Amino acid sequence: MILVKLGGSVITDKSQYRRFDRETAGRLASEIAAAGERMVLVHGAGSFGHILAKEHRLHLGITEDAQLRGAAEVMADVRELDLEMCRCLVHAGLPVVPLPPAACAVMRDGALERLELTTFLRYLDLGMVPMSFGDVVWDEVRGLSICSGDQLMMALAKELRPSRAIFVTDVDGVLTADPASDPGARLIERVDRGTLAALPRTQRNVDVTGSIYAKIQYMIDMAEVAGECLVLNGKVPGRLEAALRGRKVVSSRVVS
Ligand code: IPE
Repeated sequence: MILVKLGGSVITDKSQYRRFDRETAGRLASEIAAAGERMVLVHGAGSFGHILAKEHRLHLGITEDAQLRGAAEVMADVRELDLEMCRCLVHAGLPVVPLPPAACAVMRDGALERLELTTFLRYLDLGMVPMSFGDVVWDEVRGLSICSGDQLMMALAKELRPSRAIFVTDVDGVLTADPASDPGARLIERVDRGTLAALPRTQRNVDVTGSIYAKIQYMIDMAEVAGECLVLNGKVPGRLEAALRGRKVVSSRVVS
């Protein structure tokens, strides 16, 4: 079984509120369908989630009623993105089933405490492709929290023990610097805890779910429970499909 996260940076334009990249999403859907593997999918929120979630300070917990309206707006927006992604996958011939975290997860102080896995397994066993996504979720301490696609990937990997976990982004993998500000940024082919400590702490960050460090940390933890953990560029046609088929592609391999 393979776990795939389609990052918000690859299926949306992260700089423009609610801008879906239909062309890239459609092509990735075709690549996923063509590979024909047993899979569970997760997608990020990109500009359908981060911009408004930050404006309403949803990642800091609920302290005033006005935030609830903001939370509802973000939930509606990420569901719209999910529907767009579902339509791309169905169009490509994949029997995808959307499983929103708000209905099957519980958070505690920002951490994903419980995820209802039985539902994922039922659909998977039936031959369907369960797909979850970054969402606003009930939190026992904060009222509401942001549940990221990376947290979902970790929880799913712990239980499902995938042979491969693939993070699809808009860059070739983990880089030595932010390519937007440093044209000399190089790909790190093998990422481990040592790599994380050596990375510069200056990368741009508009995300409410943490910097690139938090994301790499999740991937390193994840490498402990997945056979192989890869980060690759979904903007380059064919890379995801090749990786799904077990071929070697330009990517970062994350090891624990
Ligand atoms: C964020 O999920 C969820 C919300 C902001 C509601 P992710 O953190 O997984 O999204 P991306 O992949 O970074 O866009």
